[in-house]
Amino acid sequence: MSQATNQSWGGRFSEPTDAFVARFTASVNFDQRLARQDIQGSIAHATMLAGVGVLTDEERDAIINGLTEIQGEIERGEFQWSVPLEDVHMNIEARLTDKIGITGKKLHTGRSRNDQVATDIRLFMRDEIDVIDVELTRLREGMIELAEREADTIMPGFTHLQTAQPVTFGHHLLAWQEMLARDHERLLDCRKRVNVMPLGSAALAGTTYPIDRHVTAELLGFDRPAENSLDAVSDRDFAIEFTSFASILLMHLSRMSEELVLWTSAQFNFIDLPDRFCTGSSIMPQKKNPDVPELVRGKTGRVYGHLMALLTLMKSQPLAYNKDNQEDKEPLFDAVDTVRDCLKAFADMVPAIEPKKDSMYEAARRGFSTATDLADYLVRKGVAFRDAHEIVGLSVAYGLKTKKDLSEMTLEELKQFSDIIEQDVFEVLTLEGSVAARNHIGGTAPDQVRAAANRAREALVALKGVS
Ligand code: ARG
Repeated sequence: MSQATNQSWGGRFSEPTDAFVARFTASVNFDQRLARQDIQGSIAHATMLAGVGVLTDEERDAIINGLTEIQGEIERGEFQWSVPLEDVHMNIEARLTDKIGITGKKLHTGRSRNDQVATDIRLFMRDEIDVIDVELTRLREGMIELAEREADTIMPGFTHLQTAQPVTFGHHLLAWQEMLARDHERLLDCRKRVNVMPLGSAALAGTTYPIDRHVTAELLGFDRPAENSLDAVSDRDFAIEFTSFASILLMHLSRMSEELVLWTSAQFNFIDLPDRFCTGSSIMPQKKNPDVPELVRGKTGRVYGHLMALLTLMKSQPLAYNKDNQEDKEPLFDAVDTVRDCLKAFADMVPAIEPKKDSMYEAARRGFSTATDLADYLVRKGVAFRDAHEIVGLSVAYGLKTKKDLSEMTLEELKQFSDIIEQDVFEVLTLEGSVAARNHIGGTAPDQVRAAANRAREALVALKGVS
């Protein structure tokens, strides 16, 4: 057999693989990232095979010791990865055979690279989901805490990016937190479908050996063996589900990023981000740029790209395994890394946001943000809402002309538009009165924000409890 022909499957071939084709079809340069999971899966497989009598206990022990040593070689950076050996699976198996001889060749009994790779990716995804879960939890905790601290801080709320009504900064932060709570549910729900074991499906139809898939599943911490071998070797919709979660999460983080970028600008001047999250300009000495949120906003695009790549990869694939599936790894790895890093950046940065309360308050005072409160006041005194809307519209037009906010007008000035208005109007025209009046579940009143922060904390604990 030629050296360039793969030793694992070269038997039926009469000429070596074309050198370019070998490189073109190889995945080892990226799938070596699955080495730990590949070894974990092989150890469980060998243990199960010995349990059902396909391997002897001595063979099992030789395989496990060999694989454990290989794990060490990989961790120490001593392992020689070989492109002609194609992928992580055959690299590790070939090294095992180097080390322990013929017994190494018995490891692949009753399995195929098709169920092996599907198992490895699922183990990998499960590990990564657990890391992402920790970062997402940390971000949510920090956000809830900041919201509670800022429950009384008043800022303008916007629609169409125009000042609409005053809200509390805590309420705004809890809006972000709700987005993340749904993302978190999606992540943990996705984990349930990730944690199902393909191993034992072999190439596509199952195997003739008396394997016990429940034992392997238990050893690997899977919830259960996959029901159907054809589906199990070919299914990658768990990867699509993860990148969907990732895309929606990044979409949310990009919205938060956009607001952070706006708020740090001199024009808004709502918050400060500590210097450690910003960078300067090489030409403009005065600049302090909000790079971290900008970059998170930008990274959203690559994650959307990975979702499209995986959806398109799976489109129209006939059962069962196809080599196309080798293309699942790079998008998935990059989506995992991007999500984890963006969450880490946010979890570190959010608690360090420094609100400029005076500036937020001043902005809320401009732009007639209590106009709706004046309309509601008139309605409470018996005016129909549409008429009240008209009266307040005229008052705002007057305020624009005279450069006065509603709360800065005298009672006489306000009475030009409706003589129902009395001295008590000034209680509703203040920003504090306006936010405190929205005092129901889901409203912006400081007491509601404090209660909502407590519920958010409980929901987070409950979510983690069920997972
Ligand atoms: N490197 C392959 C992949 O990532 C492993 C499975 C290959 N199976 C095969 N029959 N060629 O999908």
